[in-house]
Amino acid sequence: MLVKRCKIINKNGTEEIKDILIENGFISRIEKDIHLANISETDIVDAEENYVLPGIVDVHTHMRDPGLTHKEDFTTGSQACARGGVTTFIDMPNTVPNTTTYELLIEKKNKMKENAYVDYGFHFGGKKTDNSDEVSKITQICASTKIFLNVSTGDMLVEDIGILERIFKNSKIVAVHAEGEMVERAINLSEKLDIPLYLCHLSTEDELEMLKNAKNKGLKVFGEVTPHHLFLNRENMEETDDTRLLLRMKPELKEKKDNNALWNAINSGLINSLGTDHAPHTLEEKMTKLTFGIPSVEHSLEMMLSAVKNKKITMLKLIEIMCKNPAEIFKIKNKGDIKIGNHGDLVIVDINDNSPIKNDKIVSKSGWTPYSSFNRGGRVLTTILRGNIVYSKGEFFGKYGKEITYFD
Ligand code: DOR
Ligand code: ZN
Repeated sequence: MLVKRCKIINKNGTEEIKDILIENGFISRIEKDIHLANISETDIVDAEENYVLPGIVDVHTHMRDPGLTHKEDFTTGSQACARGGVTTFIDMPNTVPNTTTYELLIEKKNKMKENAYVDYGFHFGGKKTDNSDEVSKITQICASTKIFLNVSTGDMLVEDIGILERIFKNSKIVAVHAEGEMVERAINLSEKLDIPLYLCHLSTEDELEMLKNAKNKGLKVFGEVTPHHLFLNRENMEETDDTRLLLRMKPELKEKKDNNALWNAINSGLINSLGTDHAPHTLEEKMTKLTFGIPSVEHSLEMMLSAVKNKKITMLKLIEIMCKNPAEIFKIKNKGDIKIGNHGDLVIVDINDNSPIKNDKIVSKSGWTPYSSFNRGGRVLTTILRGNIVYSKGEFFGKYGKEITYFD
């Protein structure tokens, strides 16, 4: 595939119009005006000088498959990704059954084959009854061991210190759901056992302080932020009786000052990555019982583009936290950057489309978006996965998704 007239961002933030050639799924040339004698018209995509970004790498999603597929399944979840410009997602282990044994992981992997529109990987779950032996078997075939240090959807809380230490020790990297003082606990474990740590969805100024101290000590600790903790706060929740229920999540929404602290932490480089924590529940479930989580993959990029438009972050920063860093932290092969040798995963966005995000035509089974009152900062026009168009202007083409691989 030849993608013509792409506005791409260079490493120093400057912009250039270039053509990108993708051969056998890999980027082979990035040059001005590539002309090929024998390429068919159908293999040419004209980006028309729109921005072309690396496909988004979302390392924090809950696709609900198996076991909770009335909320989402791999096909609909990955379709929502394609629509949102996400070309790689990593699924969390709080499915039913929880992904906490080697056997269940392989079962999940087999079930998801040929079912995804975009590429995907898996996090493995730490278990309260100690599955550290299982953890040691999966390090090369999973992105991380995910440990819940606080109560959330699914019954996956691990509290016993001995068990926590054994699970940490056998992991290549631990991703934690830790809130407040639990962030400190996770950092201490990471330091003691010398295992890299990924702090999911940091949401307060205090937690950022803990991350800063850990980094100042030289620890291998990374921080993630979600779009909802950047764009929403308690005031949004208090708007109506509906929003009081819809906008419940773990960690809960915080204050305006925390939004600001998170934006600052992105710009100072303290925060490394953005993960959506896409956690779909149906509208009916949200309205009738207490459920934590909101859908997100469909609009995360369009929302973050609004932050670029409002000069909260640069396009270069967006690419760093949504593509490059998440791929690097979890050692995902060939993703996160438009460079020769990487997969031809691209997303073409029209930043002049600032239309309102609407609750209709949602592809996620959850059927709603928390961003329906916001204007997009740009529209995802086309999503390309390894040289295949998977989504373009409202239409979906083929389940080309494959499982990602990792480097050492
Ligand atoms: O709000 C949340 N929802 N937080 C989590 O930690 C889990 C997620 C879910 O799976 O529903
Ligand atoms: Zn989560």
